[in-house]
Amino acid sequence: MIEFRDVVLSYGDHVVLDRLSFRINFYERVAILGGSGEGKTTILKLILGLIRPDEGRIIIDGQDITVMSESELRDVRMKFSIVFQEGALFDSLSVRDNVAFCLREYSGLSEEEIEERVRALIRRLGIEDAIDLMPEELSGGMQRRVAIARSLAAGRPKTMLYDEPTTGLDPLTSDNICAMIKELSSGEPPDRMGLIIVTHKVSDAAKVADRFMYLKNGKITFDGDMKSLKETTDPELRAFINELFTIEGRC
Ligand SMILES: Nc1ncnc2c1ncn2[C@@H]1O[C@H](COP(=O)(O)OP(=O)(O)O)[C@@H](O)[C@H]1O
Ligand SMILES: [Mg+2]
Repeated sequence: MIEFRDVVLSYGDHVVLDRLSFRINFYERVAILGGSGEGKTTILKLILGLIRPDEGRIIIDGQDITVMSESELRDVRMKFSIVFQEGALFDSLSVRDNVAFCLREYSGLSEEEIEERVRALIRRLGIEDAIDLMPEELSGGMQRRVAIARSLAAGRPKTMLYDEPTTGLDPLTSDNICAMIKELSSGEPPDRMGLIIVTHKVSDAAKVADRFMYLKNGKITFDGDMKSLKETTDPELRAFINELFTIEGRC
């Protein structure tokens, strides 16, 4: 369980998260929706303990991570894998070396074992042909796949975290990445690897998540399934999710 209890986070006098509270089971498929600058990336950083809140508690698996040391946080981070916005690959490393990076740094596995694991992941993500290429030689969609493979390399997380995974991709490639994301989190709870996707693209969120939260002015103003999201009477949220109605059939 990932729980935020009255979390406050400010940058200077700009309050980004304002007594934010929610609970998410590791195996859930949740989309946190919100406009640019509402604090979506900030929430992911808080879950990983990369930043600490000014007030409130963040409880992961029953433990309050806001009081943990860096070494204790390392174990918490192992429960998750994150795919950063834009993929954030290492430009100077080949696909193989990008995917192998964490294994080489942290796993203590032999080069042969690493190669085997990298190949298995690359196969799973359908990017075998790209294994010796550099990131700049790949299409946007391929880059995202490599980023997902790299984030999975460190182990099997309880929950995947995706920060705007389809930004900058054309609609067809976005569809493709969404299908991949959904497939990685298929299966039944509690064995399923869950996901939290933060995005402003509602139609993509609809393809991968079963639970939707709307972040506005530092608070969750909506939390429910697709049916209740479509039925919301909040005029601002209705405007935000408008694309669900205008591109009917796309989700
Ligand atoms: N390191 C930082 N210093 C100052 N302000 C920041 C910093 N990081 C984020 N912010 C501000 O916090 C707000 C939320 O940022 P972010 O979580 O990145 O939003 P989102 O991911 O929803 O676009 C934004 O207004 C952003 O400008
Ligand atoms: Mg962001």
